[in-house]
Amino acid sequence: MASVRHLISIDDLDDADLYALVTRGAEFSAGTAGRPAPLADDVVGVYFRKTSTRTRTAFSSGALRLGARIIAYGPGDLQLNTGETSEDTGRVMSGMLDVIVARTAGDPAELRAWAAQERMAVINAMSADEHPTQALTDLTTLHRQFGRVEGLRVLYVGEGNNTASALCLALTRFPGVEFELRTPPGYGLAPYYRERAGEQAARYGAVFRECHDMTDLPVGLDVVYTTRWQTTGTSKPDPDWRAVFAPFQVTEALWEAGPKAVFMHDLPAHRGDEVTAEVLDGPASIAFQQAENKMHSAMAVLEWCRT
Ligand code: CP
Repeated sequence: MASVRHLISIDDLDDADLYALVTRGAEFSAGTAGRPAPLADDVVGVYFRKTSTRTRTAFSSGALRLGARIIAYGPGDLQLNTGETSEDTGRVMSGMLDVIVARTAGDPAELRAWAAQERMAVINAMSADEHPTQALTDLTTLHRQFGRVEGLRVLYVGEGNNTASALCLALTRFPGVEFELRTPPGYGLAPYYRERAGEQAARYGAVFRECHDMTDLPVGLDVVYTTRWQTTGTSKPDPDWRAVFAPFQVTEALWEAGPKAVFMHDLPAHRGDEVTAEVLDGPASIAFQQAENKMHSAMAVLEWCRT
């Protein structure tokens, strides 16, 4: 029986795993990974409680390409809805599935409960606090674009959401990275991620900063990154939140500080909100290569889970 590894947080990966997953995702992306079928005897469950275009398709297509068969569950399908516990759900599924890819958009403790067994790998396809497979996709994309992650200067503009949190945990483990976030006041990183990123940056020789305005932006950037203002599965109680976010729109003016920077976006995008159409559809944008890399990175994760 193959061993099982879970991916619920970037924190679950040691440095060797993190670097290997990024490198392997880039190999799948470049077409140099061969045609391995490590999941040929496996059945993969794909459970999405919230909407998804990219992540669900990436893991489904990736699993099929690696030889697996798939069972897909929608938000209304499991007895979780009628009160069965997460522990019982994980225990039962682990007798029938080899991997479960789950977007709960909720408390990651639910996924930890599913992972309290040793037969079925559990992959977090986005919980409320973190989107770890997005961060692996993003680093895979950086590796493809620049040939490295070390030493890159990255500016993240927008909400300190689950994508930003996972990115913080991953990027600050690469020496020489300068990672700066500009988050709207009241919409910054959760304290755990801010503190962890600062501690990691100090340990790995990276730089990490978070500010809440758009003045004195860093220069010489390699990457400008944003996410949509209405993160999947969330809403904002403040009826005036758009006024707080408005100064954080990514426009072409940002390229005055870093004319060579590429633009990244985890998608889906709302042109005219977090980014202008000129930027998203312009020459600096690699957002759609990034989206395709979700599948290549998913294949690296699935392979890693089962070997
Ligand atoms: N970026 C991302 O997670 O996209 P989906 O919500 O479409 O999966």
